[in-house]
Amino acid sequence: MNLSKFTFLLALIGGASGQYYDDYEFPMSIYGPSSPNCAPECNCPPSYPTAMYCDELKLKSVPMVPPGIKYLYLRNNQIDHIDEKAFENVTDLQWLILDHNLLENSKIKGKVFSKLKQLKKLHINYNNLTESVSPLPKSLVDLQLTHNKITKLGSFDGLVNLTFVHLQNNQLKDDTIAAALKGLKSLEYLDLSFNQMTKLPMGLPTSLQTFYLDNNKISNIPDEYFNQFKGLQYLRLSHNELTDSGIPGNSFNVSSLVELDLSYNKLKNIPTVNENLENYYLEVNEIEKFDVKSFCKILGPLSYSKIKHLRLDGNRLTQTSLPPDMYECLRVANEITMN
Ligand SMILES: *[C@@H]1O[C@H](CO)[C@@H](O)[C@H](O)[C@H]1NC(C)=O
Ligand SMILES: *[C@@H]1O[C@H](CO)[C@@H](O)[C@H](O)[C@H]1NC(C)=O
Ligand SMILES: *[C@@H]1O[C@H](CO)[C@@H](O)[C@H](O)[C@H]1NC(C)=O
Ligand SMILES: *[C@@H]1O[C@H](CO)[C@@H](O)[C@H](O)[C@H]1NC(C)=O
Repeated sequence: MNLSKFTFLLALIGGASGQYYDDYEFPMSIYGPSSPNCAPECNCPPSYPTAMYCDELKLKSVPMVPPGIKYLYLRNNQIDHIDEKAFENVTDLQWLILDHNLLENSKIKGKVFSKLKQLKKLHINYNNLTESVSPLPKSLVDLQLTHNKITKLGSFDGLVNLTFVHLQNNQLKDDTIAAALKGLKSLEYLDLSFNQMTKLPMGLPTSLQTFYLDNNKISNIPDEYFNQFKGLQYLRLSHNELTDSGIPGNSFNVSSLVELDLSYNKLKNIPTVNENLENYYLEVNEIEKFDVKSFCKILGPLSYSKIKHLRLDGNRLTQTSLPPDMYECLRVANEITMN
């Protein structure tokens, strides 16, 4: 086999995998005449009478929310405070979506969220928070606080069902993260990308399956760090400051891992991965050597790498530096992207 058989597909790979949580699958924003007890400025579609839409209304505060509403949308307004009694008539609210407002922590009064005993989804993306909001109700499943100015996480104690935590695009350092999140028994999805972490937080819940840490300043990985997460499938560490010396030998030899993104770092060698890994992104590093042992410790009829997509573009590899036995090891690869 020669290099002309390599394919050069860039765009397709990015969308190849990853676990995404579909936010707005229900209820759909269907506009029509409002249900009789809707807030006058908002819209409660007859087909979804438990949903109230108050998006893009230049609201400065939370409108009157009538009993019976379970899904409340308040996106793209100018809400800069929430009164203690704002949701007093809708204590069975399940979704509260407050993205693109001007909320600050000091202007969210009392235990306004923890009183909502049925709340499953709380989104306060694109606001002016400097800390995570608390206290939160134990029913919470999905918390999104992205694109704020959060430097500190408050207590997440007792949130036994919290599964998805989105904290990307804030100003978090590693120090408060582990203490805040360590008791979250159901945590599966944690996005800490685009923050200011220099180290990996210790003591996170071992239930994590998706862990995004790209665009931080992480330079090394503690021994056996990722092996503590027994079901870790998707890991992104691109755009950090990783070098070979910061990565102990078996850091990424995690048998549950399906996707690993180490692109845009300063690696000279290919870190060893488990044979089960399917998508491996290593573009834009300083890799000058392709060692088959990074993928296959031994080669045999039943012993080979499950890699489907491998990106190596933007490195220092040349065609002649590729060993012939790489094809035996990477025998099920669809795409290996070189320069
Ligand atoms: C809750 O309902 C009562 C009775 O209808 C009403 O007086 C009060 O203003 C409502 N509160 C809010 C915050 O909408
Ligand atoms: C809130 O955030 C917006 C956009 O980032 C910014 O323009 C505004 O000055 C902030 N307001 C306060 C009070 O911090
Ligand atoms: C957590 O979720 C389970 C399953 O949906 C539910 O039965 C339980 O009541 C929830 N716990 C809390 C504290 O809401
Ligand atoms: C990964 O670790 C396992 C033990 O968990 C070991 O048997 C295997 O050889 C390692 N893989 C590589 C490529 O070194």
